[in-house]
Amino acid sequence: MNPVFPSILSTDYFDLKSKLTEFQANKIDVIHLDVMDGNFVDNISFGPAVAKTIKSKFDFQIDSHLMVGNPEKMIPWFITSGSDWISFHIESKHKIAENIATIKKSNRKAGLVLNPDTEVESVFPYLRDIDYILLMSVFPGFGGQKFIETTYERVSKLKHRVKQEGTNCLIQVDGGINVDNIGKLKAAGNDIFVIGTFLYNSEDIKKTLATITNKIAGDLYEKKRVNCVDRYFNGDKRM
Ligand code: DX5
Ligand code: ZN
Repeated sequence: MNPVFPSILSTDYFDLKSKLTEFQANKIDVIHLDVMDGNFVDNISFGPAVAKTIKSKFDFQIDSHLMVGNPEKMIPWFITSGSDWISFHIESKHKIAENIATIKKSNRKAGLVLNPDTEVESVFPYLRDIDYILLMSVFPGFGGQKFIETTYERVSKLKHRVKQEGTNCLIQVDGGINVDNIGKLKAAGNDIFVIGTFLYNSEDIKKTLATITNKIAGDLYEKKRVNCVDRYFNGDKRM
C-alpha cells in the first residue's frame, strides 16, 4: 500500500477528476477525505456523497477523516458511502469504544484522531481495538498550515507504546507535510503520510511523488546503513 494518502481538501472542484486520474496513474491507493461539519471545526467541506462518487469512478480506497461533533451519527453514513478507513476525533468525547466497534463491525479500518494539543497517552487504552492513529500536525480545519514540530516526538512516543503493546496499529500524520519534514517523520516511526497542499498543488505530481517516495525510502536506507555500520563496529561481520 502506498503510504502517501493525498488530501483533496484544497481541491479545485473543476479539476478534481483530472487530479484523481493522475493520482491513480501514479500508484496512489488511498485518498484522504477531510470531512468538516462547521461545528467541530470552523469550516465545512464535503459529505458521504463525495466518497461514494469517487468510489464509483476510481479504484481508490477512501480514508474519511471525520472532523465532526457527532461521529456516532455520521459514521454509518460513511460506511454506507463505501469509505474503507474511517477516523474520528478523540476530542469528540462520547461513545469512543462504541464508535470504534461500529466501524470494525462493518469491516472497515477504524482510526482515532488526536489534535496537536491532546496528550498521546489518551489513545493508549484503545491501541488494541483500532487499526490506525492519526496524529494531527496542524490544528484541524484548513489545508496549507505550518507543520507543528512537536509531532516528531509524539510519533516516537506513540510508536514506542505500539511496539510495547505488540499491536499492528499504524500511525498516520496529517497537515503541513512536505519534502523537508517527511524523512524525519518516517525516522520517528510514522507509517502513513496525509499530504494535501504540497502534493495537490505541485506543477508535476509524478515528479513530486517520486521525490517524496525517495525521501521516505532514503531515510530508511540511511537508518539501515547506520545500523549496519553499528553492527560492523560491534563485531558483527554479517554485513
Ligand atoms: C486539516 C486536514 C489536512 C489538510 C492537509 O484539517 O485534516 O488533511 O487538508 O494538510 P496540508 O494541506 O497542509 O497537507
Ligand atoms: Zn485530514
